[in-house]
Amino acid sequence: MPTYPHIDRYYEDLNRLIEFGGSGNELNIRSAFQTCLDAYCRGHRERFVLVPELPGPGGVPDGTIKDSLRMARGYWEAKDTDDDLDDEIQKKFARGYPQDNILFEDSRIAVLVQNREVAMRVDMTRPSELDRLIRHFLDYELPNIEEFRAAQEQFKADLPAVLQNLRQTVETAEARNPDYQVATADFLDLCRQSIGPAVTPEDVREMLLQHILTEDIFLRVFSEDQFHRENNIASQLSKLEETFFTGDARRETIDRLLTYYGAIGRAAYDISDFAEKQKFLKAIYEDFYKAYNPAAADRLGVVYTPNEVVDFIIRGVDYLLRKHFGRTLADDHVQILDPATGTGTFVTSLIEYLPEDRLERKYRHEIHANEVAILPYYIANLNIEYTYKERTGRYLEFPNLCFVDTLDNMGWQQAGATGGAVQRQGTLDLGAVSVENWVRVQEQNEKPISVIIGNPPYNDSQTNWNEFNPNRPYPEIDRRIRETYISRSNAQKTHQYDMYKRFLRWASDRLDDDGIIAFVTNRAYLRSSTGRWV
Ligand SMILES: C[S@@+](CC[C@H](N)C(=O)[O-])C[C@H]1O[C@@H](n2cnc3c(N)ncnc32)[C@H](O)[C@@H]1O
Repeated sequence: MPTYPHIDRYYEDLNRLIEFGGSGNELNIRSAFQTCLDAYCRGHRERFVLVPELPGPGGVPDGTIKDSLRMARGYWEAKDTDDDLDDEIQKKFARGYPQDNILFEDSRIAVLVQNREVAMRVDMTRPSELDRLIRHFLDYELPNIEEFRAAQEQFKADLPAVLQNLRQTVETAEARNPDYQVATADFLDLCRQSIGPAVTPEDVREMLLQHILTEDIFLRVFSEDQFHRENNIASQLSKLEETFFTGDARRETIDRLLTYYGAIGRAAYDISDFAEKQKFLKAIYEDFYKAYNPAAADRLGVVYTPNEVVDFIIRGVDYLLRKHFGRTLADDHVQILDPATGTGTFVTSLIEYLPEDRLERKYRHEIHANEVAILPYYIANLNIEYTYKERTGRYLEFPNLCFVDTLDNMGWQQAGATGGAVQRQGTLDLGAVSVENWVRVQEQNEKPISVIIGNPPYNDSQTNWNEFNPNRPYPEIDRRIRETYISRSNAQKTHQYDMYKRFLRWASDRLDDDGIIAFVTNRAYLRSSTGRWV
């Protein structure tokens, strides 16, 4: 016989609330159904979240069901037992409540309206019927979700052809367009100085392609064209783009992706809250990158880190800093770095965590972040600056986000040895090309870092990384791995040069005398013999 544990619990809670609260008044009993619905959401294959009292179209329903993209999937509204439920439903619709997927209940009767029609009406005292209604409610696919999914699939199917077209357009510009040739040579120079000496013309081409392909997403999600004018990397890439990719060329190439951008724009339009848009963008980050370049997504570890994990690490580090060094994250001179920042989650959580009176100093001088792929770099920039503005009420540029390959950046060895401030003006003679990013990297290199936190890539899905999607070489850091992990280990040698161990080695060397490294990790290498060091 089927059992309905969430519903049994609901009946128990409901009886207790009525017994102690003395009535079936909505406010008195609402939490019982909320707990029940929440349990169904958590157990649903799409891991929905029930958000109470979120303002939406027509008012503030008692609950909104959200999916991982932060899109609203359904609404729940509780009513008094004394009210006439059908009258109340009509009143809500007259006020503009959504009618695509909404559940009304008064603890006796539950009514499910889908696509403007009553889809089910059940007696709530019958557990099997109530269970069926809730499942029907949660499984319903809204037309905009269907559209979004279809657009995602279409995007994956269309992207290879669009990319091929785009690559050809860039190759033609490389061969025949003098403006492009000059601009790209300047930009490559700057990248080699600030991102790493190994940057190739192909890398620049990839950055440009990602920039072109993601520009529209930012415009549609954030209505943000200022960002591309003002961010030091985005403005350089926009200049490069303007030398060859305008008007018809642009329209013809990008046209095929318009369905995807349109669906993203419409989905984002339904999300009014900026913080929710940030989360939406985090999900798009993984989705886009895996379709754009699955091998690079794997090599770079393009997955976002759940906020709960990030918060745990931040609190844990603060506790350990106090315990072992008598300091806190908020203290002066505790320099913090996220070397693989992705969408910037560690930095945004720090901004929310630090005490208000310490925040500005930390933000300006003592929190640092690096990212090597253009899309997450843009997202991180927007997220970090927005979170700061939310917290303080003031916009302040985040001056410590670097577009750099962390593992290639060994400049801190010399910087530490020579000391001295970096000159902001005239350090490089790169003509029109901005030196801002280069200066940022040098400034970071000057800082004695005492906390390194983050979620570096660990190529989890690669079973044989030597043959499939090989990682690019990092001679300096690999030499350090040879000198330390390998020379002191009797384990198999070839498996030591993965991205995760490189980050661990880099961070261990980068840390000042005292400090803490806190990385998200898989357990495999800790348990296996390859990770055994003697
Ligand atoms: C697991 S994700 C970080 C997720 C991040 N905490 C978030 O929630 O968005 C790892 C990130 O590190 C970046 N990355 C990988 N290798 C890097 C390198 N050598 N230097 C800088 N960033 C790198 C990747 O592009 C990716 O965005």
